[in-house]
Amino acid sequence: MSNHQAAPIGVFDSGVGGLSVVREMFLQLPRESFVYFADTAHVPYGGRSPEEIKGFSFGITRFLLQQGCKMIIIACNTTNSVAYQDLIEAFDIPFIGVIEPGVDKALQTTKNGRVGLIATEATVNSGFYQQMLKSKNPAVKVMAKACPLFVPCVEKGETEGEAIRQAAKQYLAPILAEDADTLVLGCTHYPFLLPLLQRLTGRVVTFVDPAKETVKRARERLEADGLLNDSAQVQHRFFVSGDPVSFARIGGLFLEREIEQVEKISLE
Ligand code: DGL
Repeated sequence: MSNHQAAPIGVFDSGVGGLSVVREMFLQLPRESFVYFADTAHVPYGGRSPEEIKGFSFGITRFLLQQGCKMIIIACNTTNSVAYQDLIEAFDIPFIGVIEPGVDKALQTTKNGRVGLIATEATVNSGFYQQMLKSKNPAVKVMAKACPLFVPCVEKGETEGEAIRQAAKQYLAPILAEDADTLVLGCTHYPFLLPLLQRLTGRVVTFVDPAKETVKRARERLEADGLLNDSAQVQHRFFVSGDPVSFARIGGLFLEREIEQVEKISLE
C-alpha cells in the first residue's frame, strides 16, 4: 500500500453505477487521482450470491492495491452489504462504503420516521441497510424493495422510456402506500434514474443519494490521515473486466465528460 498523498483513490462497482460517486468526487475532491474499476464481465451483481460477490470484491481490491491506491471507495451498495466486514478484516487499507453515509442522511432527512429503500435483490436480502437504520434509530420504519430491472437498463444507458417507467411505478407503489417520506437510492446505478423517479413521486418523497455524504467522509478520512493530495496534477484511470468501448460511451454520458481511455483486464 502506498501512503503517498499523490497516490490514487480506488473506486469500484459492478459497472457504470459507481460513476454517480465519481461525479461527486469531481466536485468535492478535484485534486485527487483515482483508479476506477467496473466489473462489467459480472454485472449485475444484484442477483448473485454473497460468496460470489465477496470473491469478486477480493480480486478487485488486490488489483487496486497493485495500482498503489491509498484508499478504496466501495461505490457499490451490493458489495458493501455483503462483503464490507470481510474486506476490512482482510486488507490493510481504509475502505469507505456508501451505506452508512446513506443511512445517516436518511435518518436526518425523514420527518415521519418512514424510510423507503430501493436496492438490488442481494442488498435487500442481506438486511444490512435495514439493520443499520434500525440500530441507529429503533423507531424508524423501513420499507425495502428490490428493483432488478433497473441495473440492466442503466448499464445500457437507458434511463427513460415506457418499460422502465412501468417497472419503476410498480417498485415504488408499496413504498408510497406505506407513506415513506424519504427514499434511499440504495444502488449506485439509481441516481441516474432520479429524474424519472422524481416524476413518479412528485414532491411526496425526498430522495437520498448516498454519494455526496460518502465523498465527504472520504475527504474527512484523507484529511485525518494526512493523505489529501495537494498537487494539481491528477490522473484518472478506468478499468473494466468487460467491454471497454461501451463503458467509455455510456460512462461518458453519465459523467458528462469524455472518458478517453478504458483498459480491459481480467481478474482471476
Ligand atoms: N451499483 C451496484 C450497487 O450499488 C451494483 C448493482 C448490480 O450490479 O446489480 O448495488
